[in-house]
Amino acid sequence: MHLLAIETSCDETSAAVLSDLEVLSNIVLSQDEIHAPYGGIVPELASRQHLKSIGFVVEESLSRAKRKLDQIDVFAVTQGPGLVGSLLVGLSFAKGLAFYYRKPLVGIDHVEAHIEAAFLEHGNIPFPALALLVSGGHTSLFCLPEKLDFSLVGKTRDDAAGEALDKIAKFLDLGYPGGPVIERLAEKGEPRRFAFAIPRMTDRSFDFSFSGLKTAALKHIKSEKISKTHPALMDFLASFEEAVTKSLLDNLARALEVHKVKSLILCGGVARNKRLRTRFDEFARTHGLPSFIPSAKLCTDNAAMVGALALARIEHDKKGRKKTALSLDLDAYPRIPV
Ligand code: KG4
Ligand code: ZN
Repeated sequence: MHLLAIETSCDETSAAVLSDLEVLSNIVLSQDEIHAPYGGIVPELASRQHLKSIGFVVEESLSRAKRKLDQIDVFAVTQGPGLVGSLLVGLSFAKGLAFYYRKPLVGIDHVEAHIEAAFLEHGNIPFPALALLVSGGHTSLFCLPEKLDFSLVGKTRDDAAGEALDKIAKFLDLGYPGGPVIERLAEKGEPRRFAFAIPRMTDRSFDFSFSGLKTAALKHIKSEKISKTHPALMDFLASFEEAVTKSLLDNLARALEVHKVKSLILCGGVARNKRLRTRFDEFARTHGLPSFIPSAKLCTDNAAMVGALALARIEHDKKGRKKTALSLDLDAYPRIPV
């Protein structure tokens, strides 16, 4: 079965062609250069750029996969959560294709697709599993009793972890997106130089909060006069990156006391971060659990993860004798549905 997937939820225009679970192409066109001067995503610019790029990106995905549109058996597209204007571009394009070729169309949840990225590369992940999703728009913890069963057990109450990294980088005028810049500069820094108190929810929930760490970082910046050229910049960024990592893993440790799982998954754009990847693996080892993290290119937004989840859903529906439909009524949604 050939599937064409489209992802436009945020600031990457992406299309992928999959043949069963083999990824034949996964084209990702980033808009980083467009948003960089603003230090963050400008939603209207994002939608307009998707509108310009979508045709080319889809064509490129087909040509790299050496497939033609009339060979595609099913289409998949991200429905949400994300920027509505951006989502509508991908949705409309995918609907147009599915309508013209009279083929099924599967609407996919972006957050679940990030988790599916781990399954794309690691076939046998033991269940139940706890999945920590860390991106620019989301920081959430999901429990998966079994495949395709996503139960939200914690989420951020304010900033996402990636958003906090992006905001501190913006404040210091280091460039956008902030996560990769901070990672590069923090590599040579001393992570114990600046102290950060790790936040903890008082209500015993597994929710996250990053606005406190962000405020603490801004206080250090002001009191120590940290700037782009300050000699302690690398130490400061290493300490901040370490604090973000520690906060994520502290919460995961608490969740593990309640959710007795057999494996741990880390995913989302921030999961590209080497410090977080290493710490996560160490954490899993000390808890006697196997850990699964997608390779870097499948951590940030991409259509292959959307296609993989769509194929898994179709396979699941087939077992229940449910037919995947040409769903022309799919609508976009901005937030994780409650
Ligand atoms: O998953 P993603 O591509 O988009 C969303 O769904 O939000 O994640 C983007 C986020 C940004 O905040 C970016 O700064 C962060 O991922 N990021 C990183 C790294 N690469 C991307 N954060 C830390 N270290 C990285 N290497
Ligand atoms: Zn994402």
